[in-house]
Amino acid sequence: MNERTSVSPAVADYSQWQAQDYFKTYYSEVVLPDEQVVLAYQIETLKRAGHPFGRGLEYGCGPTLHRAIAAARSAFRIDMADWLPDNLAQVREWVAATSANTDWNRFTDYILTCESRGEAVDASRIQRREEQTRKVIRNLHVSDARWRHPLGPKRQGFYDLLVSGFCLDAVSSEKAVWHRCMSNVLSTLQPGGLLILHALYRCKAYKVGERMFPGADLSEDDLIESLLATGFTRRSMDVHVIPCPENIQYGYGGILVASARKG
Ligand SMILES: C[S@@+](CC[C@H](N)C(=O)[O-])C[C@H]1O[C@@H](n2cnc3c(N)ncnc32)[C@H](O)[C@@H]1O
Repeated sequence: MNERTSVSPAVADYSQWQAQDYFKTYYSEVVLPDEQVVLAYQIETLKRAGHPFGRGLEYGCGPTLHRAIAAARSAFRIDMADWLPDNLAQVREWVAATSANTDWNRFTDYILTCESRGEAVDASRIQRREEQTRKVIRNLHVSDARWRHPLGPKRQGFYDLLVSGFCLDAVSSEKAVWHRCMSNVLSTLQPGGLLILHALYRCKAYKVGERMFPGADLSEDDLIESLLATGFTRRSMDVHVIPCPENIQYGYGGILVASARKG
């Protein structure tokens, strides 16, 4: 390609995604500072909602369990969806495992510490919460956010809780595609339902292993506009940016966190 035209970074296709690389890059060592903030935000938002949820969906879970573990005490059931069967295979493996699988213990510990505001968290509490999560997780769906009905027409307006972290903004570098994915996936939420959404701030490409994957380069205003256009009330909306300059090495220096209720 002519160098003058290659203004945006070359990005990989999700056929090149390795679930293990992703887990290793972001989740295998510590609860990274930006992830601490994002999880604390989810926990606080669920607490502020002040009521349990009947039908939860985590959309674009990847090979991760921490958002489901954080939602498990607030939802009667949680379905999980992602485009890549390999990611869902990792989730399925964890759900079928026992406490011998310690992959997410560090995150469960952090989640329980946030919820109990400093009280000591021991191994049996971690085990109980992970067991509860295994019971609450119900269906795992292979799904494409670009489909008008990502989980089929029957799931339109079905869920009262939707959690989605760093997925819809990572489908494509094109903002128009991102907005369509927002419209498709958010249509699974029923009126009055609660959305908790995270996206990379102003990120054109993010790093996994040696590869870069696409980012839709979102600002706060992009997110607010898209939420308004997809039926969320301005009054219920909370959107802000959390700086994380230490993550510039991964392709982004901030994170957008948002919550809103469908009108
Ligand atoms: C950055 S990861 C986020 C994973 C996880 N939610 C997290 O917070 O770590 C982006 C995810 O989007 C998924 N994805 C990419 N394109 C998609 C599409 N068209 N429809 C649904 N999911 C997609 C990928 O498989 C990947 O799991």
